[in-house]
Amino acid sequence: MTAARILRGRTLGFRDDPRLDGAVVTEADGAVAIGTDGRILWSGPFADLPESFLGGSVEHFPGKIIMPGFIDAHVHFPQHRMIAAPAKDLLEWLNRFAFEEEAQYSSEAFAAAAAERFLDKLISHGTTSALAFSSVHKGAADCLFKAAQGRGMCLTTGKTLMDRNAPDAVLDTAEDGARDSADLIGKWHGVDRLRYAITVRFAVTSTEAQLQAAGALYGDNPDCLMHSHISESAGEIEFVKQQFPWSRDYTDVYDRFGLLGGNTVLAHGIHLSERECQVLHDASAIVVHCPTSNNFLGSGLFDIDHLRAPERPVHVGLATDVAGGTSYSMLQTLGEAYKVAMLKGRKLTALDGFYLATLGNARGLGLDGEIGTLEAGAWADIVVLDPQATDVLAARDELSENLEDTLFALMMLGDDRAVRKVYIRGEMVHEKD
Ligand code: GUN
Ligand code: ZN
Repeated sequence: MTAARILRGRTLGFRDDPRLDGAVVTEADGAVAIGTDGRILWSGPFADLPESFLGGSVEHFPGKIIMPGFIDAHVHFPQHRMIAAPAKDLLEWLNRFAFEEEAQYSSEAFAAAAAERFLDKLISHGTTSALAFSSVHKGAADCLFKAAQGRGMCLTTGKTLMDRNAPDAVLDTAEDGARDSADLIGKWHGVDRLRYAITVRFAVTSTEAQLQAAGALYGDNPDCLMHSHISESAGEIEFVKQQFPWSRDYTDVYDRFGLLGGNTVLAHGIHLSERECQVLHDASAIVVHCPTSNNFLGSGLFDIDHLRAPERPVHVGLATDVAGGTSYSMLQTLGEAYKVAMLKGRKLTALDGFYLATLGNARGLGLDGEIGTLEAGAWADIVVLDPQATDVLAARDELSENLEDTLFALMMLGDDRAVRKVYIRGEMVHEKD
């Protein structure tokens, strides 16, 4: 196959967790050859680029970093307008802002326009793939699928299941929720680059009947994702205890209804006990760290080493959780994750961080080999970062002695201004003016 496009510059990718030797793949003068089918044909040192690919147009990015596009492992599509809404804690924030805003998504015209704006934001921040919550409305999830399909994006979403403890405008019923979810699975799951996530908002807003129905749906569709929240705030955990008095803990609720499995993705997990981590490990579920959200809502400090304890590691993902989160930027998210780790007496290296936001999230979401890597065969979902994008970054870059320094500065100081170009399936979809 001929290369449609060749990107040349500093390349960075991972073949594994960078805490393991030999996991980082980088070339100071590297190249990525992209085929006409939108997949990566080859990557390596520019000097070794096979001659047969040289016909493709070469875009040269001296001083920039060419890497897999970021993957946001947990973000809320119908909250994109209500970013930065202050409240005393999660439950107040949901009741005062989130439910009311999400009620707007009963209008398909509103949801269709919002879906385009939401995807524009992801892409301009260098995020080429996401696992997103939609609202309770079937039509809104449909709109987001359509918008992502139109852009050739790899996106996973689902209509939110919630049948209690919220205003009527954002409630379904156990039966309607399961039926609408099944309809959407039939329509979208596995179509192009789209996948369905059975989306239980959290244990607070579902009856046992709804959790039962969601578990049955997951059992019938084990290659769908199961997406929810867990153990985020003290008030929420207390609420769950009252609502499910028979449960040993929060994790037990999801476990009891068959909602834990290898495709289960649970946001937050700040206050998980040793027992809960063991159960999540045994189920191969993943927990997604959302640091800007946790800090903004005062939910608590995530302990990455507790989750990843070597004797029963729980796979940790990383996400913005907009609009509990305060930035679409996975760079800002990394910066905040670093600070949270520091406050817990932990260390998050830049390489670990960039791994989490790319291959780590791809693995957690079951997309290993498809995205999050520059290796041949993967989709050419790529971001080009500029380590000198702002005056502050440029000054800091003068002192950077190696790639780790540069990445560290980007994760502490970078945001969408550092995103030079973005490609999805090898097509350029964003360029900074
Ligand atoms: N728990 C249940 N719903 C939500 C939500 O919309 N955002 C966050 N951060 N936590 C939740
Ligand atoms: Zn969330």
